[in-house]
Amino acid sequence: MTNLIIKWYRSNKRDLPWRKTKNPYCIWVSEIILQQTQIKTGIKYYKKFLKKFPNISSLANSKEEDVLKIWQGLGYYNRAINMLYTAKTIAQNYNNNFPLCYDELIKLKGIGEYTAAAISSICYDEKKAVVDGNVYRFLSRYYNIDTPINTSLGKRQFQNIADKLIPKTGCGEYNQAIMDFGSLNCKKNNPTCITCPIKRTCKAFKLGNVQQLPVKKPKKNIKTRYLNYLFINQKKQCIIQQRNSKDIWNKLYELPLIETDCKITFNQLKSHIITKQFKILNINFQCQFNHILSHQRLIISFWDIKINNINAKKNSKKILIKDINKYPLPKPIEKYFHKEHLII
Ligand code: ADE
Repeated sequence: MTNLIIKWYRSNKRDLPWRKTKNPYCIWVSEIILQQTQIKTGIKYYKKFLKKFPNISSLANSKEEDVLKIWQGLGYYNRAINMLYTAKTIAQNYNNNFPLCYDELIKLKGIGEYTAAAISSICYDEKKAVVDGNVYRFLSRYYNIDTPINTSLGKRQFQNIADKLIPKTGCGEYNQAIMDFGSLNCKKNNPTCITCPIKRTCKAFKLGNVQQLPVKKPKKNIKTRYLNYLFINQKKQCIIQQRNSKDIWNKLYELPLIETDCKITFNQLKSHIITKQFKILNINFQCQFNHILSHQRLIISFWDIKINNINAKKNSKKILIKDINKYPLPKPIEKYFHKEHLII
């Protein structure tokens, strides 16, 4: 089966920018980006990231805010913060040279089993099997395994199978082949089983339960949060603040925020401490967005608050509205400024 997948890959592989290099820095960047986005968006961010930070030292010497600005829109912002931390570690402790094996790579912040396996196999041909979403799907179908893939038992089971399948040489090519095979052939919806080169030995195909696999344990309690953003402004200025929270959008900039358990009323808003800090001329509800993240639903409301003397308190900044895009922003904040034509 592995030989057939490699053969399939050699004539079907995607032409991707990170496949033209074995530079571990570039592979690292590509693999972190690809953990949270589709290939098409991934290519855009990969090029943008490498243009701004072409090597370890340029990243290590950059400001957190500049890295977040490049990362804006990708989500999982702690990954970008960890990349900066790890770049500094490699600059200081490894003389700007990327570690040369899995066991060293995995010690670095933000590099887990998957990323260490991807970098070490692709760049150094180390025999370490990757298991990403595509590999889970393919293996669960090929062997008809219904252990939920998002449990520790499932993770161990699929990693063990992948470790047994990986060939002695050409490990990087094989890892990329199995990921491409899962993503292009053994797709989530409408997999191309009819033309699949390994359908004769695929258990799920034989049993007719390809669409039932892989099994995922349902996530419990998706939380709903109500975020009320205050566009506190006077003339051409408004107030922003930097988030400092381990939950979402850590270190990004946002408008002053009131978080509530349910929809806020106009009166609650008016009597809130943040609004009390200002001499308010006018409050207007503007718009609401729903924003779905992997484990929470955000109901986000925006209020336009006109004041007559803008002064930022500590932990916040007074800025020119037109400069908002200089700061790394969560998607809904960026969307708000565009929607309300506050920036072009
Ligand atoms: N998904 C994440 N990394 C990948 C890679 N190197 N090849 C194919 N798909 C991927």
